[in-house]
Amino acid sequence: MSPTQFTVSLLLVLLLRPSNASLVPRPQQDQTLSLKTTPHPQIQYHNPKLPPRSLSLASSKKFEGSSDLVQLRYHMGPVLSNSPINLYLIWYGRWASPQKLLIKDFLLSISAASGRRSSSAAAQPPSPSVAEWWRTASLYTDQTGANVSRAVVVAGEHEDVACSHGRSLTRLSVQQVIATAARAARFPVDHRNGVYLVLTAEDVTMQDFCRAVCGFHYFTFPSMVGYTLPYAWVGNSGRQCPEVCAYPFAIPGYMGGAAAGGPKPLSPPNGDVGVDGMISVIGHELAELSSNPLVNAWYAGEDPTAPTEIGDLCEGLYGTGGGGGYIGQVMRDGGGRSFNMNGRSGRRFLVQWLWSPVLKACAGPNALD
Ligand SMILES: *[C@@H]1O[C@H](CO)[C@@H](O)[C@H](O)[C@H]1NC(C)=O
Repeated sequence: MSPTQFTVSLLLVLLLRPSNASLVPRPQQDQTLSLKTTPHPQIQYHNPKLPPRSLSLASSKKFEGSSDLVQLRYHMGPVLSNSPINLYLIWYGRWASPQKLLIKDFLLSISAASGRRSSSAAAQPPSPSVAEWWRTASLYTDQTGANVSRAVVVAGEHEDVACSHGRSLTRLSVQQVIATAARAARFPVDHRNGVYLVLTAEDVTMQDFCRAVCGFHYFTFPSMVGYTLPYAWVGNSGRQCPEVCAYPFAIPGYMGGAAAGGPKPLSPPNGDVGVDGMISVIGHELAELSSNPLVNAWYAGEDPTAPTEIGDLCEGLYGTGGGGGYIGQVMRDGGGRSFNMNGRSGRRFLVQWLWSPVLKACAGPNALD
């Protein structure tokens, strides 16, 4: 570690200290700073203190900030280093076009716009961007020294509007959903670069959804799908449990709520609590899928059946100064909508940070140091 890196880590350690540390007294519930560095005058930084999301999900996996105690280790397996990562989307249940476009705009924002600067400079989203956020995921390597790919494309889509395997899925039946999609004519089995993303509509339930998971990733079994393919599932929690899985756009009501003068949920950047909330979960799962696709590469903890991965370590953290109930410094636009990164087509997103193997701390493109 160079002296500069050390200073940066030290700064992060200090900045990410939980707010109850005596070092940084924070009397207010919502800190607002107007900084000259914000790109537009109407954009402000704020660091809201919110009640924690569900009790069940605030598990021991959640870790805020930075510590030498986090032993994230490499277990010799592959990472998704082939370029580009080909995403195959399975829309399960009824999805509105604007919702699909929003999710695809996020996925397509992960790749930094390519080379031709002169023509694409205008199209390049301003910093902090989704592509800069993904840079943290691309710092993970396998034993050959190959990094997680920086390029992510949507290579195919399949619609299962009628829910071929019912509206109540399990961890196993979601593999049948993938098998059914993979038999469709224009939906290939891509062994080399493929990743399968099953996105369920808000009326579809999933085993453990809302109680223990908002999304998960794993790989398919040859006995069920015919092949071993990395996949992730993320559900739209809008109707089932937004205060759990679309946090912080919905928060638990037990603190008395906004009406009683309690903290208010954040306003979602694209006006859709369920889908804006899904975006951060999709980011979390994709980052973990890429650094731990067969669950034998990057994770912390001794138990491979309950690995703590690079998204788990930073759940609920969206900016500098998060922890102890604060989500971190994020931006708020003139309409009061919160976000922490920019994407293609002028989109804005609020996405959780990822654990950096270089900084040994949670990192994101909107860090204020
Ligand atoms: C690959 O990962 C290593 C180790 O984290 C990092 O130092 C390097 O900059 C990465 N390379 C690319 C091209 O991202």
